Amino acid sequence: MTEDAVAAIERGLAELGDAYRDAFATASNEISLRDEYAKVLGKKQGSLTRVMGLMRDVPADRRPEAGAKVNAFKDQVERTFEQRLADLHRASRDAELHARPYDLTLPGRLPVGRGHLHPVLQTRDDLLTIFRDLGFEVVEGPEVELEENNFTKLAFPPDHPATDMQDTFWVGVDGAPKDARVLLRTHTSNTQVRVMSTRTPPMAVVSAGPVYRRDDDITHSPMFHQIEGFLVDEQVSMADLKGVLAAFAEGLYGPGTPVRFRPSYFPFVEPGAEVDIGCVFCSEAAGTRATCRVCKTTGWVEVLGCGMIHPDVLRHCGIDPERYRGYAFGFGIERIAMLRYGIPSIKHLFENDPRFLAQF
Ligand code: PHE
Repeated sequence: MTEDAVAAIERGLAELGDAYRDAFATASNEISLRDEYAKVLGKKQGSLTRVMGLMRDVPADRRPEAGAKVNAFKDQVERTFEQRLADLHRASRDAELHARPYDLTLPGRLPVGRGHLHPVLQTRDDLLTIFRDLGFEVVEGPEVELEENNFTKLAFPPDHPATDMQDTFWVGVDGAPKDARVLLRTHTSNTQVRVMSTRTPPMAVVSAGPVYRRDDDITHSPMFHQIEGFLVDEQVSMADLKGVLAAFAEGLYGPGTPVRFRPSYFPFVEPGAEVDIGCVFCSEAAGTRATCRVCKTTGWVEVLGCGMIHPDVLRHCGIDPERYRGYAFGFGIERIAMLRYGIPSIKHLFENDPRFLAQF
């Protein structure tokens, strides 16, 4: 029995013999060489696997001997394979070098598709253009901000829910002073603070960019974009704000677009309001209102927050509220883009699927 098992392995190896050498030598490219290799050493169907199956019958004390034989065979196959592979690579490289050279300076034949701006950025630019045409200057602000500019100077009380860990991405900054907390801005109102703190009125500014909140569902993303606009001067009233936002709604959805103001609360404005724009996806006359999912049959879609800048905020930014007043408004760009293009979920805007993006 003992003799038989080891002898059977030896016979098996002898049968495999040298045939692989011829097969490797005649393989004319890497793919067929690898095929031949798999026929010998392949884990599933390689012929060596079959021989190895005989190991089971070899008693423990003779296993090292039998194993050494199998390994020696395996090494030989591997060495022969590596050598042939190197030869094939060298040959194909030689062929390439001696072939007619490519002219890399020739113009390409396929038309290369041009990319375009992301729908959110297209919307941002269109919105900024509306405000620029109304006389607002475009300014940029930082995304990583001091608590002071994002909350404190905007008169958020320290325990306001928006400042909570649940709502805000706080950032640890090495070497920052202990009392200066840093965060990813939760709105673009930080830019309002920065500009008001460094300039003297009059000023009319818009700012756009990413903002961050711990929010995630079909209409909220932890990163989204906002536009903030504000104006500070000696004679400014809520009527000016309404005029500018009505012009904005018309710039966006065409002449006669209705706008509605609802009282609302933000700590940095007084009075404060939310603005709804008449739903452009349905109409009472056409009988489509009763089933409209965009406005939930109300005929109105909420788009922004606004108000008269609170005197405390002006004061925090070094502007005399006895002399100056201002208004401010802010809104999410994704929301406008979703309404504009009828996009049902904010996720589509951030998945970078070319089949989606190519539609804009
Ligand atoms: N910053 C507010 C928000 O992100 C929007 C806003 C801006 C409201 C300016 C009033 C005035 O919700």
